[in-house]
Amino acid sequence: MTSAFDLTRQLPADHFEAALRHDVRLGLTADPKWLPPKWFYDARGSELFEEITRLPEYYPTRAERAILTARAAEIAEATGARTLIELGSGSSEKTRLLLDALRDPGTLEAYIPVDVSDSALLDAGQALTGEYPGLTVHAVVSDFTATLELPPTRGPRLVAFLGGTVGNLLPAERAAFLAALRTQLGPDDALLLGTDLVKDTAVLVAAYDDAAGVTAEFDKNVLLVLNRELGADFDPAAFTHVARWNAESEWIEMRLRSRREQTVKVRALDLAVPFAEGEELRTEVSAKFRRRGVAAELAAAGLTLSHWWTDPEERFGLSLAVPRRTV
Ligand code: AVJ
Repeated sequence: MTSAFDLTRQLPADHFEAALRHDVRLGLTADPKWLPPKWFYDARGSELFEEITRLPEYYPTRAERAILTARAAEIAEATGARTLIELGSGSSEKTRLLLDALRDPGTLEAYIPVDVSDSALLDAGQALTGEYPGLTVHAVVSDFTATLELPPTRGPRLVAFLGGTVGNLLPAERAAFLAALRTQLGPDDALLLGTDLVKDTAVLVAAYDDAAGVTAEFDKNVLLVLNRELGADFDPAAFTHVARWNAESEWIEMRLRSRREQTVKVRALDLAVPFAEGEELRTEVSAKFRRRGVAAELAAAGLTLSHWWTDPEERFGLSLAVPRRTV
């Protein structure tokens, strides 16, 4: 048996550069200021996120892993997937649970990790190819929030979007994303969606503002990305990491609060960005869900919730959804 690894970039070489410029100009000239969370994930940011997943306060990874451990066989049985496509795959750490389960009935042929981070894809892809002889690993560098084009692999296909990353999208973006995904699914395909659940505010805030300060460093990493990629002159020490629960929207917001009045220059954009003392830049929204809301959002996209699993403490939800049958 042979195993194969390859990596393709779906987007033109200058896509990320152009998208970063666009997002930074839009977000840093807006009031209030904001940046999309996808720009956290350069090599250092991906590494810091992996560190976050091991923090005592950051429960989602462990909770989701517990569900996958308990349910992987059921998922394999329900889907009979030949191809596993994983959006936002990162280190593909939890993926092994699914790969093992899908290999058991012997249906799995290919694993397609899709991520914005090519360093994470290279590391994970190469490791997996070694561990799973005979498996084709076809990594795709893509921004699936902008364009979603799943490679035409053999079905049934299981599309996994784990970790609660769907919560990084705003409600309208989520609706558009799920609808776009639905158009790519055949009648025998399925979606496995991980969503963090609404819970005690103190538990949520601690998960995004850990005692060791790893999340603060992760948050500020986006400033270093802007310094390197766009010649900006952010001083990370001039900002404080803030995590706040937005009870009305039911999401966590991460922000960077300017410790003093300052003007930051972004050389590549020829932009001067004034910050008042205490002014906040929103760097991430991480929505938390309830079962009813997940089912409703899936239904609005033409998907039917077929299974709903949580960990014993009901901290995290894992949904299996299938295209709605039309008559
Ligand atoms: C990778 C998007 C699931 O929102 O919980 C972790 C990212 N941000 N700590 C999340 C994150 C701050 C994470 N996701």
